Amino acid sequence: MGALDGKVAIVTGAGQGVGRCHAEFLASEGAAVVINDITDRAEIVAAAIVDAGGRAVAHRGSASSWADAEALIQCAVSTFGDLHILVNNAGFLRDAMVFSMDESQWDAVVDVHLKGHFAPSHFAAVYWRAQAKLLGEGAVLPQRRIINTTSESGLFGGPGQSNYGSAKGGIITMTLVHARELQRLNVTVNVIAPRARTPMTEVNPKFTKPETGFDKYDPANVSPMVAFLASDAASDVSGQAFIVLGDQVHRMQPTTILASVTAGATQWSVDGLIAAKDQLFAGAPSGVPVWGGPPM
Ligand SMILES: NC(=O)c1ccc[n+]([C@@H]2O[C@H](COP(=O)([O-])OP(=O)(O)OC[C@H]3O[C@@H](n4cnc5c(N)ncnc54)[C@H](O)[C@@H]3O)[C@@H](O)[C@H]2O)c1
Repeated sequence: MGALDGKVAIVTGAGQGVGRCHAEFLASEGAAVVINDITDRAEIVAAAIVDAGGRAVAHRGSASSWADAEALIQCAVSTFGDLHILVNNAGFLRDAMVFSMDESQWDAVVDVHLKGHFAPSHFAAVYWRAQAKLLGEGAVLPQRRIINTTSESGLFGGPGQSNYGSAKGGIITMTLVHARELQRLNVTVNVIAPRARTPMTEVNPKFTKPETGFDKYDPANVSPMVAFLASDAASDVSGQAFIVLGDQVHRMQPTTILASVTAGATQWSVDGLIAAKDQLFAGAPSGVPVWGGPPM
């Protein structure tokens, strides 16, 4: 018995890296998996899963293309009869400082991450709403899942990544929006920030595989959390954000009021805000926040 027996999943950007690990792990837990990638690695990964005894089909296309995203959802339904789990993962980097970044770097990264999350989520939601209507008022709806992919850059603001950090921050907000909107369709929506050695990160020597002991940055370490969030055991978990690496899972609270001041039924003046400043920061540092992620 696998944790995902009978489920149908899509993983975008599953041709390599973290996405490939998710697809292989979901398949090993019993899910039938649609392997989306913009490259021909989609076919290679799907064939590897089938060779290992799992169920998988390749879908070559861009997660950020409206037409490809619609075809991706249809591929899951026409091949495996339904869709329960959407893992939005596809993406790439085009890093540059704010003064050096050009328009194409901005557009490409915002497109692949932000629209690349929204387009498949939109068409999955369209399908799930239609299914709920077919089942009728009061019916027990199947459990559905969206698992999004942010980054510590989206949580904390990575220098050199205006495009990527902004898009990944937007994905955290999109997760909250969709968690609220899709609750009535029995869809949970959560977001993870992975940290792993992949073609995206392997240039950084800190990710190097150790000669002995636990391989902390093996991308496969991230996938059990995705399978857990996809499983029926996580039906009460929604609108939540996690950093996942190695043997660690960190639950985040990206939107929290830390301190408040009120003017008292009148508009603030600048002098009033100057006077209230110490209370607003209450001894906490007021400069650029320290990086909040776990140490390497
Ligand atoms: N590796 C890390 O430490 C890390 C850290 C934070 C966030 N992430 C995020 O995790 C996700 C996976 O990253 P990774 O490290 O495995 O990267 P990767 O580069 O190894 O793999 C990304 C995959 O996405 C595919 N892809 C790119 N554009 C696509 C598109 N438009 N449509 C479909 N597929 C497309 C690529 O072909 C590739 O196979 C990304 O969203 C990334 O931002 C990774």
